[in-house]
Amino acid sequence: MSNKLIELKNLTKNFDDQQVLRGINLDIHENEFLTLLGPSGCGKTTTLRIIAGFEEPSGGEVLFNGIEISKLPPYKREINTVFQKYALFPHLNVMDNIGFGLNLKKVDKSVIEQKVKRMLKMVGLEGFEKRDVTLLSGGQQQRVAIARALVNEPKVLLLDEPLGALDAKIRKQMQIELKKIQREVGITFIYVTHDQEEALSMSDTVVVMNNGEIQQIGSPTDIYNEPENRFVAGFIGESNIIEGTMIKDFLVEFDGFRFECVDKGFEDNEAIEVVLRPEDLDIVEPDQAKIRGTVRNITFKGVHYEILIETELRTYMVHTTDYAAVGREVGLKFGPEDIHVMCRMGGY
Ligand SMILES: Nc1ncnc2c1ncn2[C@@H]1O[C@H](COP(=O)(O)OP(=O)(O)OP(=O)(O)O)[C@@H](O)[C@H]1O
Ligand SMILES: [Mg+2]
Repeated sequence: MSNKLIELKNLTKNFDDQQVLRGINLDIHENEFLTLLGPSGCGKTTTLRIIAGFEEPSGGEVLFNGIEISKLPPYKREINTVFQKYALFPHLNVMDNIGFGLNLKKVDKSVIEQKVKRMLKMVGLEGFEKRDVTLLSGGQQQRVAIARALVNEPKVLLLDEPLGALDAKIRKQMQIELKKIQREVGITFIYVTHDQEEALSMSDTVVVMNNGEIQQIGSPTDIYNEPENRFVAGFIGESNIIEGTMIKDFLVEFDGFRFECVDKGFEDNEAIEVVLRPEDLDIVEPDQAKIRGTVRNITFKGVHYEILIETELRTYMVHTTDYAAVGREVGLKFGPEDIHVMCRMGGY
């Protein structure tokens, strides 16, 4: 990966007597699309506001290119922010909204015009210079807000749930656009969302947070396929999470059976948890599998069926394109690579 641009070192933040960040350690690189993902109140916005300079940390450091900046005011940082509520100036047209900062800096009018035009092209709003911003759609207003942030040529763009106010279809379209813009401008994007699908589809790196702490840092596929604990596994998609024992490297026991797996590095006989993704499970005849049960429910989900299979010990969820009738006795088949072993954690 390219050079480190921002380093958060043991960052903490208290509001009154409540600790909302509990020692955040994170490296953010040049050109990286990094997403902070986590449930409401976990500290995503607070982390972003500290990086932007709107908030001072209670402890720890923020380094930018190796230099401590946590006392530096926002306008002296090479960082710009796009918020969920785009806060455009309603009395200014598109051109003047985007050129606002440059105007303040007394940049030459013709230079501003040129830069604004280039930005409008990048966000797909060519020819919109003279439009009244209050008459634009939500998606178009958000594009203007992004153009306004990018025209200052920051090294880092912070985006706090920038698509939160848009409806599902435009949101999907803007996700693709944003990713494209990030590649084109080649700067670092730090993106905040509580939508796991959005995080997985856009990011180079996903940082899963809960309760002021980082739970896991990884690529979307790492986070999805190799969740490090129950919180991450549960937050990222639906899962079957089962308590078990790691007998030894490559051999795990759960639900009374031993299975070959691809995981290693745990203690022998360590208490662990296993993740089985619903889409990794196959329904077979009972005599072809160790785990057996009865189909209790089947729901058509558009592309696949969601099938609930009740065994002696639990209910498994399966996603499959094969139909299975309620009441049928079935076996549950999966391979060594479908078993993901995680450390067991207390408190959940
Ligand atoms: N200025 C403040 N004063 C007091 N408490 C605050 C302040 N800002 C945030 N908090 C608290 O800090 C915690 C983290 O808030 P934060 O806004 O960072 O969460 P978030 O992850 O962005 O959540 P959401 O997804 O709802 O936006 C919350 O419990 C919030 O109530
Ligand atoms: Mg927030």
